[in-house]
Amino acid sequence: MCGIFGYMGPKQAAPILVEGLRRLEYRGYDSSGIALKNGDFSIYKKTGKVVELQSILPEKLHGNVGIAHTRWATHGGVTDPNAHPHLSENGKVVIVHNGIIENSRTLRNLLKKKGVVFNSETDSEVISHILEYELNRDNSPTDALRRTLSKLVGTWGLCAIFLDHDVMLCARNGSPLIIGQGDGETFVSSDPHALSTHTQRVVFMDDGDIATLTTDQITMSNIHGDSFDTDITVLEEEWEEAELGEFEHYMLKEIYEQPDSLRQCINGRLDRVRGNGRLGGLNLTPLELSKLPHVRLLGCGTAYHAAEIGGLLIESLARVPSVAHIASEFRTNEPVVNPNALHFAISQSGETADTLSALKEIQLKGGSVHGVVNVVGSSIARQCGKGVYIHSGPEQAVASTKAFSNMVAALTIFSIQVARSRSLSKEKGKEIINGLQQIPHLIEEYLANQGPIMEAVDLVKDAKSVLFLGRGISAPVAKEGALKLMEVAYIPCLAYPAGEMKHGPIALLEEGSPVIFIVPNDHVKEKSRSAIHECRARGAKIILIHEQGDDISDEGDINIAIPKVNNYLSPMLTVLPLQLISYHAALALGCDVDRPRNLAKSVTVE
Ligand code: G6P
Repeated sequence: MCGIFGYMGPKQAAPILVEGLRRLEYRGYDSSGIALKNGDFSIYKKTGKVVELQSILPEKLHGNVGIAHTRWATHGGVTDPNAHPHLSENGKVVIVHNGIIENSRTLRNLLKKKGVVFNSETDSEVISHILEYELNRDNSPTDALRRTLSKLVGTWGLCAIFLDHDVMLCARNGSPLIIGQGDGETFVSSDPHALSTHTQRVVFMDDGDIATLTTDQITMSNIHGDSFDTDITVLEEEWEEAELGEFEHYMLKEIYEQPDSLRQCINGRLDRVRGNGRLGGLNLTPLELSKLPHVRLLGCGTAYHAAEIGGLLIESLARVPSVAHIASEFRTNEPVVNPNALHFAISQSGETADTLSALKEIQLKGGSVHGVVNVVGSSIARQCGKGVYIHSGPEQAVASTKAFSNMVAALTIFSIQVARSRSLSKEKGKEIINGLQQIPHLIEEYLANQGPIMEAVDLVKDAKSVLFLGRGISAPVAKEGALKLMEVAYIPCLAYPAGEMKHGPIALLEEGSPVIFIVPNDHVKEKSRSAIHECRARGAKIILIHEQGDDISDEGDINIAIPKVNNYLSPMLTVLPLQLISYHAALALGCDVDRPRNLAKSVTVE
C-alpha cells in the first residue's frame, strides 16, 4: 500500500529517495512522487511505476533534504495531481501522508472558506494547508504539527519538511513509520527493509508519537507535548534487501526459498526428545492451557487460510474448540470475547489494518492475543507484545508463498505445544515433530521433481473459472490455491470443501471445466475420491494433487505427485503445485506476476 521514504543528510537526496521508493514498490501502489528542498521545493509526481517517476526527473536534481511517496488511491482518482507530496498554499510546507483523514471533507470546506485553493482531490492535502496556517501563527514546526494533528480524525503516517526550518517532522497514528539513524544523516521509511541498506539503527514509531528530526538528532514527543527518550532498535540482518539473483520474479524465488525459510522458522523450536514445541512466546502455564475454553485465530487473505489450518490442527491435536475468523468481519460482528481464551493474530506484514483493529477489539474486551508475524517490530507484533516471528525473511512478491508455509509451520508448533500440555501423548508429539523436521527436505524433493505443472497451466489458463476442492485440512489449501491463481492470473476461481461441491458448485461443471483436487493420503481421501467421480461424470477435467505411489494417483486427468507426508503436515506440500500453477499461468497470460493489478502487499486501511 502507500509508502513513505525521507532523507536528510550530507548526500544528494534524490537518488536515495528514488531507491527507497523502489524498495517500497513491492507494497503495491499506483503513483509516486518526490519533493526536494533546494532553496525552494522541487516537486515531481507521476502515475504508474517508480520508473515512470524516474523518467521525468531532471538529470541533476539538487537538495540534501527530501521526502517521497508511493500512493495507493483511496480518496481521488489515480492522477498526477493526486499523487503526493502535497504543497501548502504559500509553498512553505510539503507533506506526504499514508492513511485516511476521515474529517477531510469538513476541513476542506473550512479551508476553502478561508480562500485556500486545492490542487488535488485527496484527503491528505488538508494537512499541508493546516500545518502552514499553524506555522504562520508563530508556532514552532513541532507545535504547529501538534495543533494540526489535534484537528484531524483518522489515521496517519505523516512526514513534513519546511522551507524555513531545517527539520523533518514525522507523526504516526495507525500507519507505520520507522526512522533510521545514520552517521550524520537521518532516514524515514514505511518499512524496515527499505532502511536496512543505509543503517541497522532504527526507531519504530508508536501511535501518537511525533518525531522531530535533524541530520544528527531524533527527538521524540507526543501530541500533548510530552517528550520521551528515543528507543533505538538494531535491525536483524535478515531484513536486508533480497535481490532477485538467478530468478526472473520474486514470486518464483520465494517459492524456491521455502525449504530454507522453513528451516529458519523451525530451527531450535522443536524438542525431539519430548515430542514438543519450544516456542518461548506462548507464555501460558500448563494449568492455564488445561482450562482453555476455546481458541480463535484471525487473519486476512493468505494469513486467514493459514489460520484455518492452525484452527483445525489445534482442535484435532489439543482437543480445544478452535475457529479461524476473517479479521475484517470479526471486529464489526460484535464478538463475545472470553478473557480466558487463546487468540492468535496472523499476519505476514504485521501491518494489516483489519487484523490490527480486530486484535485491539479483543484486547479492549479483556482478551489477550498472540501474534504470528513475519515483519519484526511491525504494528501487530508490538501491539500483541507476545507470540512468534515466523522468520520467512522479506517477502516481496505481493502474492504470499513462503510466509504461508512458515505461518502454517509456526501454528503447527503452537498446536503441538498446546496439545502436549493437554492430552497429546509424547509418542504422537514426537511423530509430528519428526515429520515437521523433514518438511524442508520434502519440499526440496518436490521442487526437484514438480510433475506436469505446465499441462495443468494449459488447462486452467483460458478457463472461464477454476474450481478448487479439498476436504479437512486440504479445504483451506484449496482456498489458498484459488486465491493465488485469482491474485496473479486474474482467473475467476472458486474454492469449496469437496463435500460441499454437490450442494452448488456442481452446477458450474460442463465439458472440460477444470477442477483442482487436493487429496493427500488422509482419513478423508475416500470421500474425495467420490467427489472426483461426481465431477468427472459431468465432463470436468481433473487436476489431482496426490501423494506419491498412492492408490488414488491415476484418478485425475493430470496427476501431480507430492512426496509422502505426515497427515497433519500435508498443507506445506500440497500448496506447492498450486503456487507453481498460479505463477506459470500468470506468466502465460502476460500478467505482472510480482505486482498484480490493484493489490497491495500491506493493506493499511480498513
Ligand atoms: C493483502 C495481500 C494478501 C495478504 C493479505 C494479508 O490482501 O494482497 O496477499 O495475504 O493482505 O496480509 P498480511 O500481511 O496480514 O499477512
